[in-house]
Amino acid sequence: IASTLRGTDLTRGVHPDFMAKEIEQQPEVVAEVMTTWGPSVAGDLWPSFGLQVPRHLTIVGCGTSLHAGRAVAQVTARLGGIPYSAIEASEVATTTTVPGSLAVVLSQSGETADVLRAVDVLHQRGHPILALTNNPHSALARQAQAVMLCQAGPEIGVAATKTFTAQVIGGTAMGLSLLAAARLVDRSAVRRRVAELSGVPDLLAYAIGAARRSVPDLVPALLDSPGFVFLGRGSSRVFADEGALKLKELTYRWAESHAAGELKHGPLALIETGTPVVVLDDGSERLAANIAEVRARGARVISVGPEQATIPARTSTTALARGLDWLGPLETVVGLQVLARELAVALGRDVDKPRNLAKSVTVE
Ligand code: G6P
Repeated sequence: IASTLRGTDLTRGVHPDFMAKEIEQQPEVVAEVMTTWGPSVAGDLWPSFGLQVPRHLTIVGCGTSLHAGRAVAQVTARLGGIPYSAIEASEVATTTTVPGSLAVVLSQSGETADVLRAVDVLHQRGHPILALTNNPHSALARQAQAVMLCQAGPEIGVAATKTFTAQVIGGTAMGLSLLAAARLVDRSAVRRRVAELSGVPDLLAYAIGAARRSVPDLVPALLDSPGFVFLGRGSSRVFADEGALKLKELTYRWAESHAAGELKHGPLALIETGTPVVVLDDGSERLAANIAEVRARGARVISVGPEQATIPARTSTTALARGLDWLGPLETVVGLQVLARELAVALGRDVDKPRNLAKSVTVE
């Protein structure tokens, strides 16, 4: 495991592109994160940061990193009741923050200009900063009071894949360590959660296999689709947002993500015969009712979810193993990454270097 992640293997190897390689690496990345941080989560990890136990979290990042931060904050809120706000780094200067809140700043590169500017503002306001980054030598890591590394190894593809997964799992480990230190969850329960996270590599490996089998059949019918709607609810929502971001980054097609319940308040007007609607299927009756509405208008429903999920879909990337309810359906992201990549490849896009985008944006 360590050799491909930590080593100097910066080649594509047998993979057609770096994105394909980095999607594949996700199970080993999660295993690496858990090997590194898992043993200390219930004990030393939080104290090693040298931070006081906060009553509120301010989650800051851009793009995929902000999605990861929201997923992590939802876990600490769900399990321990710690409230949070999530703010785009570029909006921090113009947004009121909760006094005394711990700023959890996520950035794969640790060099994103909007993030560094937000760090300045947060410092001026007296917020301590905990950085979650893949780059221990970055400006963010130097400026933060404490650093949690996400252990993903180098990511070459501009569109983040394995660093998202690493941020979610590393951030969740950090969050569990906070809940243990704050005595909001007892240590034995934290240890059980950590043991459950050790099963995530298998979940992701299963999801990669399922997506590889089902996605190629979906692609031909989507080649001429100008726009996509992604829907999730509850803990799925942030993963739907991430799937939509991947799709637009890679395919240059419009992709909107909404809470499923918001459909009737506007997005339903977009649905025509054949409009692809990608649904993160959590098996709920409410979601099924939302989907019946888009189906009645001729949408092409693509569902992503566990085998026992309930939405009958014409096309599907389903048959995932059931994930961890308290973590949210991280494994669905793998299917959405594969969908975005396969469609982009079929459209002739450069999946490693999408137009107009940079891996690290060092201008505000
Ligand atoms: C760029 C990339 C995005 C990435 C964002 C944040 O815009 O194209 O894929 O999510 O920066 O990058 P960071 O290094 O701060 O996580």
